[in-house]
Amino acid sequence: MRKGIYFIVFFLFLCLLGFANEAEIKAHYELSRFLPPEVCGGCHSDIFTQWKGSLHQLSLKDKIFLAVAKDGLKGIKIDDELLEAESCQKCHTPVGYLSGYPLRTSDDIKKIQEPATQGVQCDYCHSITGAYAIYNAKYKMDPGNGYSDPGIKRGPFNDSKADFHKTEFSSFHTKSEICGTCHNVKHVVYGTWLETTYEEWSASPYKNQGIQCQDCHMYQRPGHPATGSTKREKNPGIAAYGGPQRDHIFTHYFVGGNSVIPATEKDNIRVKMAEDRLQNAVTMSIEEKMKGNSVVIKLLNNGAGHEVPTGVSNIRQVWLKVIVKDSTGKVVYSSGVPDKKGYIDSRAIIFGTVFGDGNGNRVDNLAKAKEILFDKRLKPMKEHFEHITIKSDDTKFTVEAELIYSIISQKTADSLKELKGLKIKPVVMTQAKATVIR
Ligand code: HEC
Ligand code: HEC
Ligand code: HEC
Ligand code: HEC
Ligand code: HEC
Repeated sequence: MRKGIYFIVFFLFLCLLGFANEAEIKAHYELSRFLPPEVCGGCHSDIFTQWKGSLHQLSLKDKIFLAVAKDGLKGIKIDDELLEAESCQKCHTPVGYLSGYPLRTSDDIKKIQEPATQGVQCDYCHSITGAYAIYNAKYKMDPGNGYSDPGIKRGPFNDSKADFHKTEFSSFHTKSEICGTCHNVKHVVYGTWLETTYEEWSASPYKNQGIQCQDCHMYQRPGHPATGSTKREKNPGIAAYGGPQRDHIFTHYFVGGNSVIPATEKDNIRVKMAEDRLQNAVTMSIEEKMKGNSVVIKLLNNGAGHEVPTGVSNIRQVWLKVIVKDSTGKVVYSSGVPDKKGYIDSRAIIFGTVFGDGNGNRVDNLAKAKEILFDKRLKPMKEHFEHITIKSDDTKFTVEAELIYSIISQKTADSLKELKGLKIKPVVMTQAKATVIR
């Protein structure tokens, strides 16, 4: 009898836990509670222009996302894996997900209603009040009720006044956690860390120095890369028509390394901004004296507040192109030189992540990811050395090296039907040339 009661209590406790978890994830808000970005843009016009065309606005339309998401649904027979493959939309269209459509990756994109098509948007971010946990978009929300009652918009000011909506200072908006709750992705069943930008930042010196994601990414604007190795100048101005002059308005371009999607939108400003970012992220030098038979290349990520590459680091392709010539000019070593198709050789030194199925076999579909098999990336503010063995008796060599970034390898892009014909333009992040002696 006693046992029975304990069991019932325990069972109720479990139900409660399950319920809390469900409530947190399945919270539902009518779509009409989120005002379209164009409405916000009516008064916040500069911020709107910066955000429109950003990867946040395009997060649902992005053809690389759509291609990978579609491919990820293929050939899955295990329920746990299907749950993950179907889980993309809570971040790629958070407003759609919260309002009930689309809940699954396989839901028809054409049926998604405005403004849910516009990705990570104004009224989503500015209705956030906190988070249950810093991963998988586990935000606490408090959206308004549409035009007649737009509710409270939370932000960095404690003296802000607007006629249209209420305002409130939110320290959560001024910290990396608001970004990290989406920029930290875990497999929904297996718990494997799939994206860890926030974790990487937390483990970096930037956290202790109080340098948040916003201090780099929301200071960037054309001509101001705003990385760890460049100045992060303030952007004085007004936040809205009729608002007071302020010494810094956080910019909303949200530029990372992606110049390919902006290029498909003919958005040259953002293409240049992504290149600016990538070209102020890492420095490289070649040591003048060889170590035994090896040429030593030193890399330092002194520009990014996380590892390079970060985010979907299984898809990103960052590699070294190295050419070594002896004193007669003959090539004695080369790797990472793209061929005519834009593919790189298997010897190339690559920075990135490879996932496995739990038994040591590589998987490219993250729905099947149970382990990390390989993780070699450039950690923030930590020197990294590559040793390249030269098979030659000569004593003097010239070495040329480039660190190159592609948002997806040309080979992977070519293997996805939806990306047919998409040319992935690599960006040279940094280069070095030196004469080295044995
Ligand atoms: C009718 C004009 C108008 C519209 C429409 C409007 N705002 Fe504002 N908003 C303002 C003004 C004015 C301020 C005050 C600016 C300041 O204090 O510098 C402001 C301030 C803000 C702030 C800063 C709050 C703080 O305390 O830090 C946020 C965030 C914000 N608005 C978001 C939004 C969002 C999101 C939308 C669309 C859902 C929106 N606004 C629509 C006029 C408007
Ligand atoms: C990804 C989330 C996100 C999106 C999308 C977003 N914002 Fe913001 N916004 C922020 C954060 C975070 C801050 C404050 C940064 C800080 O204090 O470090 C901010 C600041 C602001 C401010 C205060 C003025 C400033 O820029 O410093 C206004 C006004 C504002 N946003 C309006 C908008 C509007 C309008 C849109 C859509 C066109 C928008 N935001 C889209 C996250 C977002
Ligand atoms: C609701 C989820 C969400 C929030 C909140 C969010 N992001 Fe994002 N972010 C995304 C998604 C999804 C993408 C990828 C879109 C794509 O490439 O299709 C993205 C893309 C980006 C990119 C572009 C990456 C590239 O490769 O070029 C940057 C930079 C970025 N986010 C920074 C931030 C910062 C800084 C914040 C906090 C102020 C933030 N994000 C908050 C979901 C979010
Ligand atoms: C010290 C400046 C700095 C800070 C702080 C910083 N970033 Fe970055 N971020 C960069 C630079 C530089 C790049 C370009 C190099 C690269 O792609 O890794 C970048 C790239 C990115 C990308 C594109 C990823 C890729 O490799 O394609 C995303 C997404 C991103 N940042 C999100 C964030 C988030 C989220 C935070 C906070 C948790 C953050 N960043 C903090 C400087 C910074
Ligand atoms: C918890 C939030 C979250 C979930 C869930 C999520 N993503 Fe993302 N996704 C992001 C963020 C943040 C980025 C930006 C990182 C970067 O640029 O490296 C991103 C970027 C991407 C990109 C790169 C797009 C480009 O243009 O290069 C692809 C592809 C992608 N996601 C696919 C998926 C797929 C497929 C799913 C579902 C199986 C998924 N994502 C689920 C947050 C999420």
